Amino acid sequence: MAELRIRKVAGALGAEISGVDLSRDLPDAAIAAIRAALVEHQVIFFRDQDLTPEAQLAFGRRFGPLNIHPYVAGMDGHPEIMEIIKEPGDKVNFGGGWHSDMSFLETPAIGSILYALEIPQWGGDTLFASQAAAYDALSPGLKATLETLNAVHSAGREYSAQGHSAQKRASMNVVEAEGAVGEFVHPIVKVHPESGRKALYVNPAFTMRIEGWSRRESKALLDFLFEHSRYEAFTCRFSWAPGSLAFWDNRSVWHFALNDYPGQRRHMRRVTVDPWPAPADQTAVRRAEGVA
Ligand code: SIN
Repeated sequence: MAELRIRKVAGALGAEISGVDLSRDLPDAAIAAIRAALVEHQVIFFRDQDLTPEAQLAFGRRFGPLNIHPYVAGMDGHPEIMEIIKEPGDKVNFGGGWHSDMSFLETPAIGSILYALEIPQWGGDTLFASQAAAYDALSPGLKATLETLNAVHSAGREYSAQGHSAQKRASMNVVEAEGAVGEFVHPIVKVHPESGRKALYVNPAFTMRIEGWSRRESKALLDFLFEHSRYEAFTCRFSWAPGSLAFWDNRSVWHFALNDYPGQRRHMRRVTVDPWPAPADQTAVRRAEGVA
């Protein structure tokens, strides 16, 4: 296989990779090189790929078991593929706010692989923000404090009837989280298991409060971190074309799908990679919520 060509797209994170056809059954060395690029650059981009659903699933499975989303129905016959579709008449997009995928689970996803099928004539870019760069930029005093703290994450707000994620879209079947939705605690500073680099691990969509703190106390610190973490020097921006693919590391990256293309269609497919060993099955939740 020809060597991967890697070109950084911004200072804090992001690199575009060329010289690889992701629809092929790639040798282990190529997968290892892609994995190393992901860990180093935190989000990697590929252009001009031609992926069937089966090929996207096969590529994703080279990095870990694939997640089945507890609230968003998967593609017919391929429950691990989430079709992210905004129809011309939809007002609300999916993923339109800063977040890290699946931080509301006990074992959050490590990566997400998003493939573009149909892209609006203008707009529809995705923003990414390095939470490792955000951590690095803090003072030693605040870093030391944050390292002693955990935060409580839940899908309860975002997937509630009023939440952004559960809003109705013509071509997506998203269920509302009702009743008792699990809360899971994660350290505010996460050490990346592959790079050893530290990153902030809180996000505006799914982080509810700081463990052991009141909501008011939590809000003060979390609002500061949410503001700090999206500073433009920590970000990069990807403009999609049909056949583009982005692979981001949820352990150190936030993302935000821009909703700036009213009246146009955007159609993406996402697979979401869990860590090994595969976490506990989420299908019980999906059945209770009527998705499965
Ligand atoms: C997501 O949050 O996974 C959606 C990102 C996008 O559609 O750009």
